[in-house]
Amino acid sequence: MKHNGTLIKEDNNYKKKSKTLYIESYGCQMNFSDSEIVASILKKKGITTTKDISTADLVFVNTCSIREKAEQTVRKRLEFYNSIKRDQNPKMIVGVLGCMAERLKAKFLEEEKLVDIVVGPDAYRDLPNLIKEVEDGKKAVNVILSLEETYAEINPVRLGGNGVTAFVSITRGCDNMCSFCVVPFTRGRERSRNPQIIIKECKKLFDNGYREVTLLGQNVDSYLWFGGKAKKEFKNANQYEKNNKIVFSKLLELVAQINPLLRVRFSTSNPQDMGIDVIDTISKYNNICNYIHLPVQSGSNRILKLMNRGYTKEKYINLIDNIKRKIPDCAISMDMIIGFCSETNNDHDETLSLMEYVKYDFGYMFKYSERPNTPAARLKDDISDQIKQERLSEIIDKQQMHSLGHMKDKIGKTFEVLIEGISKKSSTNYYGRTTHNSTVIFEKDHHKIGEYVMVKINDCTSATLKGKVI
Ligand code: SAH
Ligand code: F3S
Repeated sequence: MKHNGTLIKEDNNYKKKSKTLYIESYGCQMNFSDSEIVASILKKKGITTTKDISTADLVFVNTCSIREKAEQTVRKRLEFYNSIKRDQNPKMIVGVLGCMAERLKAKFLEEEKLVDIVVGPDAYRDLPNLIKEVEDGKKAVNVILSLEETYAEINPVRLGGNGVTAFVSITRGCDNMCSFCVVPFTRGRERSRNPQIIIKECKKLFDNGYREVTLLGQNVDSYLWFGGKAKKEFKNANQYEKNNKIVFSKLLELVAQINPLLRVRFSTSNPQDMGIDVIDTISKYNNICNYIHLPVQSGSNRILKLMNRGYTKEKYINLIDNIKRKIPDCAISMDMIIGFCSETNNDHDETLSLMEYVKYDFGYMFKYSERPNTPAARLKDDISDQIKQERLSEIIDKQQMHSLGHMKDKIGKTFEVLIEGISKKSSTNYYGRTTHNSTVIFEKDHHKIGEYVMVKINDCTSATLKGKVI
């Protein structure tokens, strides 16, 4: 008899449990979303997820290669799995998934004896076969990258979510080739997912009580769908333009039209591809959140060129001006890389002055970390760690000041907040976010998770708002 994926023989003398999977994810949101795809692929084979590593049959880690530190974190986790395997769970099968698997390929098996499976981001459908190979006593590797794979029809198993907010992937891979970035090598060429399937997935989430979707891609603005046809299949350019062409702003609009109660977010926008059409669409729909994550990486044109970012400081500022003009109440955040090859004090000052101009609401700031085989690895990583650290601290301080300023501006005002869950610090409080992506903490009262409430802000730190439902 099959019962929740567990095979139980009626006479009870013999019980055979179905296999269980423990999966951890590191790195970007896309990795978290991919782990849900993996869980879905394995669920079809009767494998269910567990939070208990000491009894899991499969222990998978979805890895990130973006900076050396991210890889070190994964190595530490593997040491931890090793200790569990030795002391508590000798039969567990260990799999390394994602970007580090793709970067290191079979080398992983030599470096980390404990690892049984190495699987890259485009090969997850092969996991049932790879598991079988390991059960037959072999080690298994599949790191083939694909030009088509989007896992389009796979309905992700929502892992550990709050039942209110979900990630929906819309593109995979990246064709941009920023010189510092390992992603084009680990995630392969860019592909867009079928829009009808994206809409269907979002509708289903809404019907199941979800109230926010975040559309995910390395570079959402280059989303492009031609009704599944390639450009060369069209006889002339006109026909090709008219024929079912869906660009990102159109997709955003279609998702926003599902229901006004479904909040829509997206990540990540790339300054070289973000068009006015996207800004117009955000301003047209109330349920598309007024928040744009727009990584800049540097304020110096010389460095931007070395990074192969495809825009200048002036073009970026023009985009920011357009956003602020068309969506006056729009929060903007950035990613910044500090201490890129040959960065001078002058370049650093240009970064500071750009920050001063934009006054970002949030920022994610990193020391440059050279990644093997990227174009920038041919340049000299010549900024000492001490200088990188000094410049980073300066930039973080500035950002904190700006973040705090934006938070303080919100005191006394009232915002619509989607309730996402119970506050980690106090069980009598809820947390949720404003359209600007600011986290708000407030008393639970009689409200429920998944509801929208109006919250009047009365206090803040640089990271959170506090308020009262009115
Ligand atoms: N377009 C992607 C970018 C992924 S990487 C997106 O969806 O966000 C996220 C951020 O990591 C980048 O914007 C960049 O600021 C940082 N980063 C990438 N490569 C890096 C490197 N080699 N060293 C330091 N930071 C890096
Ligand atoms: Fe990386 Fe640039 Fe693409 S940062 S993910 S190569 S847009």
